[in-house]
Amino acid sequence: MHDAGRSTPWTGQGPTGVGPKATLYHDLAVELDGLLTGETDLTANAANAAAAIYHSLPDLNWAGFYFLHGKELVLGPFQGKPACARIPLPRGVCGTAAAERRSVLVGNVEAFPGHIACDSASRSELVIPMLADGRLLGVLDLDSPSLGRFDEQDQVGCEALVAIIVRHIAPFMLS
Ligand code: SME
Repeated sequence: MHDAGRSTPWTGQGPTGVGPKATLYHDLAVELDGLLTGETDLTANAANAAAAIYHSLPDLNWAGFYFLHGKELVLGPFQGKPACARIPLPRGVCGTAAAERRSVLVGNVEAFPGHIACDSASRSELVIPMLADGRLLGVLDLDSPSLGRFDEQDQVGCEALVAIIVRHIAPFMLS
């Protein structure tokens, strides 16, 4: 049964995609925190987080998760076209972010050596590692059909979103 105290179903009432980026990310962070609160299932929360991000941030063609399994990343919940299921570290933008445990912002994917083209429409990409107490859980991957879609404000905003997501999912992930 729906708990009236939670912000599900997703309303999309918060971020509009047109205001200042700081406001957009602040509002999305608040909405996301409410959306994930009270749910303990990893798949349910990762799926809702991917959908919330994809439908709130403008100009994306893919948003979703890869989770670390051994020495490779395995596709998790996402929005967008079907993507490669497994990415060995440190391949691609995702594998680089995971191996180096840092956010990787790519203004032009064609200029990134080893970029893995899942959707030929993608032109720029932002990947944020998910870290919980020093343990790498996986990455959040965002793709855009526009060159230079992401800037440092997007990186900071998405890192804040990932911190919220990690807080909600890490306790319920198998070690
Ligand atoms: N482009 C990514 C692969 C994942 S898709 O973009 C969804 C990469 O180079 O790692």
